[in-house]
This record gives sequence, C-alpha cells and structure tokens, in this order.
Amino acid sequence: MNPSKKESSITRRDFVKRTSAAVGAGVLAGSLPVGASAFAGGSDTLTIALIGCGGRGTGAANNALRADPGLKIVAMADLFRDRLDRSYDSLSRRYLESGRLDVPEERKFTGFDAYKKAIPLADVVILTTPPGFRPAHFEEAVKHGKHMFCEKAIATDAPGVRRFMKAAEEAREKKLNVTIGLQRRYQNSYRTVYQKIRDEDIIGKILSGHATWNDAGVWVRHKEEGMSELEYQIHNWFYFTWVAGDQILEQNIHNIDICNWFIGEYPATAQGMGGREVRTGKEYGQIFDHNFIEYTYPGGAVISAQSRHQPNTFSRVGEHLQGTKGTVTFEGENSNNAIIRDHNGNTLYDHYGLEDVSPYQQEHNELFASIRSGGHIDDTDYSAKTTLTAIMGRMASYSGQMITWEEALNSDAQLMPFEVNADTPPPVVADENGFYPVPVPGVSEPH
Ligand SMILES: NC(=O)c1ccc[n+]([C@@H]2O[C@H](COP(=O)([O-])OP(=O)(O)OC[C@H]3O[C@@H](n4cnc5c(N)ncnc54)[C@H](O)[C@@H]3O)[C@@H](O)[C@H]2O)c1
Repeated sequence: MNPSKKESSITRRDFVKRTSAAVGAGVLAGSLPVGASAFAGGSDTLTIALIGCGGRGTGAANNALRADPGLKIVAMADLFRDRLDRSYDSLSRRYLESGRLDVPEERKFTGFDAYKKAIPLADVVILTTPPGFRPAHFEEAVKHGKHMFCEKAIATDAPGVRRFMKAAEEAREKKLNVTIGLQRRYQNSYRTVYQKIRDEDIIGKILSGHATWNDAGVWVRHKEEGMSELEYQIHNWFYFTWVAGDQILEQNIHNIDICNWFIGEYPATAQGMGGREVRTGKEYGQIFDHNFIEYTYPGGAVISAQSRHQPNTFSRVGEHLQGTKGTVTFEGENSNNAIIRDHNGNTLYDHYGLEDVSPYQQEHNELFASIRSGGHIDDTDYSAKTTLTAIMGRMASYSGQMITWEEALNSDAQLMPFEVNADTPPPVVADENGFYPVPVPGVSEPH
C-alpha cells in the first residue's frame, strides 16, 4: 500500500495542527516521557535510527519523514551492507539534498551488533528486522530510553514474548512511545466499525468469525556467494520458524489481531491442523504452506484462522465476524471495504470507496504527534498478546494438540537463540540432501 502523496508535502503548520488534533482525538495522554519536554512544541529536530534496512524498514523511514518535517535519519544498521546501501540509495533520492538523510559512513553499521551502535545515536528508533530479533532490539532501545516504531511480530517464540513483555514494562515506566505495525488498529475502516460496534452495539455480542490470509505466497531468496549458513537462513528468513515464526505470525497475525481487538479477549484454547503440500522444496525452509486454527475465547466466541500460501487457490485476505444482531466483513484491497449487515442482509454501514490515510502513514503520524506533545502511546500489550495468540496457533498446528493460553504463555520452546552473533550455530540444520526439518503433527512437540 502506498502512502498518500498528500502526506509528503505537509508543512510544519499543518503538522502542528494535525498533531493537536490527533492527540485530542485519542492518543492516550500521560505524564511527560523521558526527554519528551525537549521535543514538545514541534520545533526541535528529532533524529531517527533505522535498524533493519529492508523493504519495510525503508518504507517506514519514508512514513516517518512524511509524518513530521522536523525529523531526520542519522544512523542506519543492517546485517548486510548491500541491503543498507540499497535502502540508503532509495532514501537519498528524496531526502539527501534537504539534509533529512544525514548518515555519513561512520553512522552506517553492519553485522549482528550493528543495532547496539546505531540505537544510542538517535531520539527515535525504527525496528524493522525479521521478527526473531525484535525482543533483543526492543530491549536495547528501551534500555537507552528511545521512543520507537516496531514492526510486528514482536517475537517468534514464547520466551521471546516474555522477554519483550518484561522490557515493555520498563518502556511503560519510562513513558516511551511505542507504536507497532499491526496497522489495522490505525486504519480508519476498522476504527470506525469498532466504534460502531462498541458505542452503538450494532452487531451485538460476537459469537464467531474467520480471520483469513490466503494467497499465492511471497519472495524466496537463495544463498549468495560468501554467505554462511546462519546468514542464509536470516536472508531467506520468511521460511525459517526460528526467525520468522511461520506465516501465522507473519501475515495471518493481522487478521487474528482484529478478532482479538473486536472480541475484547484473547483465546483460551487453540486447536487445528496444517502442513506442506505445494511449497515443499529446500528453498522453502521448514514452515507450513497451510494452517487452519480454531480459537475458542473465554466468552465462548469461536474464530477460525486460515493461512495458506498456494498458487492457483482461492485468495482472500480479511476478517468476518458474526454477532447476535448482525455481521461485519472486512475485505477487498487493504481490507478497506468494511460492511456491517443485519441478519436479513440489509447493509447498516458501508465503508467502501472512502479515501482514508494509509494506516502505515497514520501509525507514524500519531507516533510523532505524541512524542511532540508529551503523550504516551503504548501498543506493546496487545501486540505481545496477539503475537502469543499466533504462536499458540502455530503450536497447535505443528503438534496437532489442543493448546491453552497458559501453555503457550509459559512454553519453554525456545526457537530463537537469546543472542545471535556470527559464531552462533544455525538454529536448524539441513539433512544430507539439503532439506530442513519440518514439523509432523502427532509427532512433534508443540513449538
Ligand atoms: N505491517 C506490515 O504490513 C508489514 C509489511 C511488511 C513487513 N513487515 C514486517 O517488517 C519486518 C521486516 O520485513 P521486510 O519485508 O522489510 O523484510 P526484508 O528482508 O526486506 O528486510 C529485513 C532487513 O533486516 C535486515 N536484518 C536481518 N537481521 C538483522 C539483524 N540481526 N540486525 C540488523 N539487520 C538485520 C536484513 O538484512 C534486511 O535488510 C518483518 O518483521 C515483517 O513482518 C510488516
């Protein structure tokens, strides 16, 4: 989704106006965060460090710079130099001349400890590496008292979720602003419908629904010359559970998050099934190409979450919720097509065709508005719990067992090493034919 062009040309006056509006409209007001007084008033320059300079990192940097004319990027960190250079080149086309990309050679960092060097140099950090690294990078940013934008998921295993949650407590104490890339929470269609459901009780109590991300799949990256096995797995990260979490955490998490948000609870149990039928080559690492999870919530609602990556099959990305009085369906491009109906099929609300600000842009607009005004946005709690919901689904799918919330939360199945450096043994090892271990339901332990 491309952020609206309108966003790229805001003036400082527009920004200050919008800042006050956004804060007035719902950003949680708190006492001043660490260092917030220095930024209040919207006149000081805020500096950014970008950690993980891939597709989303570069996109998020653009979103940040569009959100607030007083920002500049001062440090960049990536595991690989070529990825950092590509991102720098892309950003430099737009922001070098104005000085808003101010990253000389000595503030470009590569390698596993690059984040440790970049984080202290900025006021705000953008964390956009593959998700396995998120707990360690988040912890470091919190330690240094940085506001941040963090991509989802916030971890790939339960020990990682607990590590993130512990650091999130410290972030809360320090009143750090943290927005997280479950961007449907910043999308107008979802917000509008959520408000109607809550304030007008328009669909009644939610009893069931589906959360679906079915499509043909994403990129595959092959091993490049000189890459170690560990680096290869991180390069082709989508297919390695330890660093990516499986497709449930990567994509279906967005749909699952909507169900958690709208139902207002987290599931008590998960059971389901999954496997690999189509994506079976070595280049697809170890993750499943389909999962079907049934989540049961404490209040009785049952949600089925489907995630499938198989070309030439029915594609759908969206959510559908059934309440005692009506239904809501989010579908279409970017799920902006939100329709509420009663049980006779009459449309009660239709969001289709409305021009909304991109949620990718909105999450940055609100982050920087809040930092400037001394507000406190904290997306960590629901993001950690939605990540755990997705992990719970994966545990059920991989093992074929029923998994409870407590079992997921307390699980010691650690996939992501606590610390990774160049000498860390690759967390999974291929067999003599180059195939990686794939979970077998009924045989594999939940993980
Ligand atoms: N919210 C959304 O809709 C959305 C969309 C796309 C991606 N994402 C998320 O953004 C994150 C990144 O995805 P992407 O598509 O940009 O992937 P990507 O592969 O394009 O970029 C990841 C970058 O991180 C770098 N990296 C890997 N390990 C690192 C480490 N330890 N230290 C520093 N750099 C490291 C890689 O070299 C790469 O440049 C993922 O968590 C993904 O889920 C979210």
